[in-house]
Amino acid sequence: MKIGFIGAGKVGFSLGKYFSENNIDISGFYSRNYESAKEAADFTGSFPYDNTSDLINDSDAIFITVPDGQIKKVFEELPADSLTGKMICHCSGAMTAEEAFPDISDDNAYGFSIHPLFPISSKYESYKELKNAFFCLEGSLEKIDLWSELLSGMGNNVKVISDSNKVQYHAACAIASNLVCALIDESASLMENCGFTYGESLKALSPLVLCNVKNILDRDPVSALTGPVERNDIETVRKHLECIKDLNDKEIYISASKKLISLAQKKHPENDYSDMKDLLK
Ligand SMILES: NC(=O)c1ccc[n+]([C@@H]2O[C@H](COP(=O)([O-])OP(=O)(O)OC[C@H]3O[C@@H](n4cnc5c(N)ncnc54)[C@H](OP(=O)(O)O)[C@@H]3O)[C@@H](O)[C@H]2O)c1
Repeated sequence: MKIGFIGAGKVGFSLGKYFSENNIDISGFYSRNYESAKEAADFTGSFPYDNTSDLINDSDAIFITVPDGQIKKVFEELPADSLTGKMICHCSGAMTAEEAFPDISDDNAYGFSIHPLFPISSKYESYKELKNAFFCLEGSLEKIDLWSELLSGMGNNVKVISDSNKVQYHAACAIASNLVCALIDESASLMENCGFTYGESLKALSPLVLCNVKNILDRDPVSALTGPVERNDIETVRKHLECIKDLNDKEIYISASKKLISLAQKKHPENDYSDMKDLLK
């Protein structure tokens, strides 16, 4: 199978290089700026294209690795008569294959979303870490096993999900990564009130956060849970609520702590957490 890319950005460069290092044929790159396509082609030992028709003709599969907002438009501008039998993929976590490539089966082509659950921050470096990436696949059932086998053959973990679960899957990813940014920022801001600079607070929190995340992922959130909610220490939680003045921050503390009660109850079925529940109402 020969793979071509439209969109020579971080993901295009990285997947292209990763595939070629794993002996998968890369036809080459088309991009908005020819210079980007040329750079990516040089990096991956493939060819730069100045039009999508030639790239499609030379490829069995095309990855449209442009920003999410551009994927559907780029697909709709592809020459329909060249798509027969081709596999068209995008890498967005949020969009389904059908959303990005509406009515693709009318062109006798196949659509997939192939999402690397991984931060790809560098055109030239990230490919080295892609062997650790988990890939979530969704799309045309007829050929999806081919992508599953290709990626798992390279050592990646792969999961196929249905299109109806794609948004919930993306929300799950956002909760585990983006929402953690909000929690750490809130924590660092409270430490600033105690005389730390923002930088000092991140440094101070680092061992706590890293060790906690390791425990959560190595074991599970219930086993890793410590702190006043788990200990059913109502007075400490009351004091925390009194000292958090910002209403939005207080709401975050309350909502997350309510969720913690159910984890704490699993860890200590013998405890009665009703007073804690009342406090957090
Ligand atoms: N980065 C990540 O961590 C990550 C992780 C998982 C999934 N993804 C997904 O991967 C996709 C690409 O993301 P990215 O991070 O690689 O974005 P990016 O670095 O911004 O690269 C996108 C590239 O697309 C090209 N482009 C933009 N509009 C175009 C058009 N109309 N026609 C042709 N080329 C066009 C641009 O190339 P020029 O240089 O030619 O202007 C740009 O370099 C997105 O769907 C994103 O959701 C990203």
